[in-house]
Amino acid sequence: MMSTAIASREQPELGKVIFSADDIAATVRRLAGEIKAGFGGNPVHMVAILKGALLFAADLMRALDDYPVTVDFMVVSSYGTGRHGRADVRLLKDLDHSPVGKHVLLVEDIVDEGYTLSYLLGNLRSRRPAQVQACALIDKPFHRAVDVKVDYIGMRAPDDTFLVGYGLDFQERFRNLPHIRQLPSQAPR
Ligand code: PRP
Repeated sequence: MMSTAIASREQPELGKVIFSADDIAATVRRLAGEIKAGFGGNPVHMVAILKGALLFAADLMRALDDYPVTVDFMVVSSYGTGRHGRADVRLLKDLDHSPVGKHVLLVEDIVDEGYTLSYLLGNLRSRRPAQVQACALIDKPFHRAVDVKVDYIGMRAPDDTFLVGYGLDFQERFRNLPHIRQLPSQAPR
């Protein structure tokens, strides 16, 4: 049997729940309504940014129910976590399908400093889509370093505490939590 000491080393202590599963579900429903109205009948070509947006994108697709939706994925990674001056976003997996002429909805889990979304918007807009709009489940504006427009925002983080769950990770863990909660032992990113 695993000792308590080993178990606690492996499992950083989780803090309070900031957004419950019900909060998230209600927000996803609201966003789906806003997106349907915002796209005005044009098919939504979702580009979900992995891995963080995995759960959000799946639920958002479902909430768009009978609205015409296609989906593609990009995987990016941000290198260097030093605040202000982190700009090295690397594309690890590109789109499978050309976005030319499509009405693209970029789907992110969180916008923090803004480097990632700024990079992705620039990348996608250079490929001649009909339009690109951006949706983020969580806006964390406290350390925004890049002025970036988010067309659809789900919820605003109440402070800059490190958050995990519903796609958000700490060292690749906790993405599977159905809610979003604090990880107080980790410095804000
Ligand atoms: C996270 C998150 C956003 C980005 C936001 O991705 O999913 O893509 O950071 O940060 P920024 O606004 O400060 O640029 P991460 O690089 O941790 O990868 P992940 O999606 O695989 O968790």
